[in-house]
Amino acid sequence: MKNTLIAPSILSSDFGKIYESIELINRSEADWIHCDVMDGRFVPNITFGFPVLSAVKRVAQKPLDVHLMIVEPEKYLVDFKKAGADILTVHIEVSSHLHRTINGIRDLGMSPGVAINPHTSIELLNEIISDIDLVCLMSVNPGFGGQKFIENTYSKIERLKNLIISKNSKAKIEIDGGVDFNNVSKLIKAGADVLVAGNTVFGAKNPEEAISKLKNSSLHTLSN
Ligand code: DX5
Ligand code: ZN
Repeated sequence: MKNTLIAPSILSSDFGKIYESIELINRSEADWIHCDVMDGRFVPNITFGFPVLSAVKRVAQKPLDVHLMIVEPEKYLVDFKKAGADILTVHIEVSSHLHRTINGIRDLGMSPGVAINPHTSIELLNEIISDIDLVCLMSVNPGFGGQKFIENTYSKIERLKNLIISKNSKAKIEIDGGVDFNNVSKLIKAGADVLVAGNTVFGAKNPEEAISKLKNSSLHTLSN
């Protein structure tokens, strides 16, 4: 049995009721709060930035898992720290000095993560995997909630797991995009440690119950 972490994504929540959504996550069985920052340049959508994150942080009782889908993330590390990020994930596709950025995130007291798009090879993580706490495997093309899960993700999880073991890395595997009740057990069996869920949580009639259902599938699934 394995305790897979559940990270509801507030992207699919009603931003007019943001405090209520955070309070819902606080009292739920969720582990982290996933916050998707988009800039309209790296991805074709714009979401929110520092003022909204700071507001979320004021009420959050769980770590903020901040997923940056922005170009030049290295420019804003201090600002994201100030806004309350606990885990800060940058995309490999926008980082020409990834090692420096990762060190910068850790030096500021945050946990560094690296996200990779569906088309990006696991092998590109070879030289950085020992320095990071999280790999966010995108299981949809980043930019929007509610998209269809990409099946190739399962084989990427397996290859990533092997890389993590071979390098003696402590990195957790996070799956982001299209996670639902149909694929949750298979993802956990394949080796997922953290599951992000937007639409499955906030599109549900009872989001708290949906979180609990995801968490319980994790507690009842035997991992490999
Ligand atoms: C997509 C974001 C995801 C998104 C997931 O670019 O990174 O975190 O909120 O939403 P669902 O679970 O609806 O696919
Ligand atoms: Zn995300």
